[in-house]
Amino acid sequence: MSVSTPFYYYDLTLLENTLAAMQAAINNPNFKVHYAIKANAEDRILQTIKKQGLGADCVSGNEIKKALEIGFEPNDIVLAGIGKSDEELDLAISQGIHSINCESIEELEVINEIAAKHDAVANIAFRINPNVDAQTHHKITTGLNENKFGIPITELDAAVDEILTHKNLALKGIHFHIGSQILNLNPFANLCQQANHVIANLKARGIVLEHINVGGGLGINYTDPESQLVPNFVEYFRVFEKFLNLEDGQTVHFELGRSIVGQCGSLISKVLYVKKGVNSNFAILDAGMTDLMRPALYNAFHKIDNISKEGELEPYHVVGPICESSDTFGKTDLPKTSRGDYLKIRSAGAYGQVLSSNYNLRDRAAAVYSDEVSLEEYISNNERIEELEAV
Ligand code: LLP
Repeated sequence: MSVSTPFYYYDLTLLENTLAAMQAAINNPNFKVHYAIKANAEDRILQTIKKQGLGADCVSGNEIKKALEIGFEPNDIVLAGIGKSDEELDLAISQGIHSINCESIEELEVINEIAAKHDAVANIAFRINPNVDAQTHHKITTGLNENKFGIPITELDAAVDEILTHKNLALKGIHFHIGSQILNLNPFANLCQQANHVIANLKARGIVLEHINVGGGLGINYTDPESQLVPNFVEYFRVFEKFLNLEDGQTVHFELGRSIVGQCGSLISKVLYVKKGVNSNFAILDAGMTDLMRPALYNAFHKIDNISKEGELEPYHVVGPICESSDTFGKTDLPKTSRGDYLKIRSAGAYGQVLSSNYNLRDRAAAVYSDEVSLEEYISNNERIEELEAV
């Protein structure tokens, strides 16, 4: 197999080590992680995650189909999303998935109708907007009143009144997700406090929940990935151990995405040109915002290594080939860089390949896996093929 640049390279050993570290950090048999498929939906990645016994967190009908195809049990699948279509709900109900996380009172009525058609009782969790500041980038903050997600806490009573009128719905849990790339753990402690209020309120109304889903959000180190290839899962789970007040038998569900797959993927790209500009030297890559959207969308910075060169560092503005000024990977120092060098854009395993597009009718970057070939070997094979093709 030959894939030319740009391509995603996945280190499956790092993924396995990350999963093992995550499982080892869980001290509580009632804690269960559902992997957020939206972060990376490649088959090989999903198979590796499934093997470790995680469940699947889906946000579309196609993600449910993908999870089932990979072998996740329906009872290990949850569905979230503020705009679920009737078809998606139909699929979720007919498959009998573990939980449909409902985000509005109006949605309850629709789910009830579809469940009635199947003569089924759908398992519901209320996704609640806890109005907790995740202290992260505003575009990936989801748990504030101004955000579109979840049922406002102030509407909780009305939502309970509503669900009790529907005989094809069973309220089994509550769900929260306050945002993503969260590195300061205090917001998670605040979330626990809000969850405790909700659990107590519902209990006062005679409702004892089976599960509390606290969403995902744990961040990773983008600036210096090498210093923390595996996120601090121990500290993360400890916050929930410490601050959540659980009833006997209640389980806590987590929906981690980025922290599981973020560091195992890199985007490998070749330098096409180095151009002297007025203010900076541009290193122009064959990868662009179509391959990795995060810098253009969130001003995110991914560490960039020139894996073809060593030596003294000089400043470069690393950009893609797309006709948009937002098509930039940012300014960074690299050894003297020239046409043909390979650059490794780090920490691209989460929200990298899944967010790619074919804007400008570009090809989509393919994936290469570490258990098939090492990166060095892959690159030298590629070079040889290109030389032969040039002859
Ligand atoms: N659960 C729900 C309901 C979510 O909406 C998300 C992510 C997750 C779980 C997983 O969160 P994680 O553990 O990965 O932080 N494209 C953005 C991130 C968007 C996150 C969307 N929701 C980025 O590249 O930073």
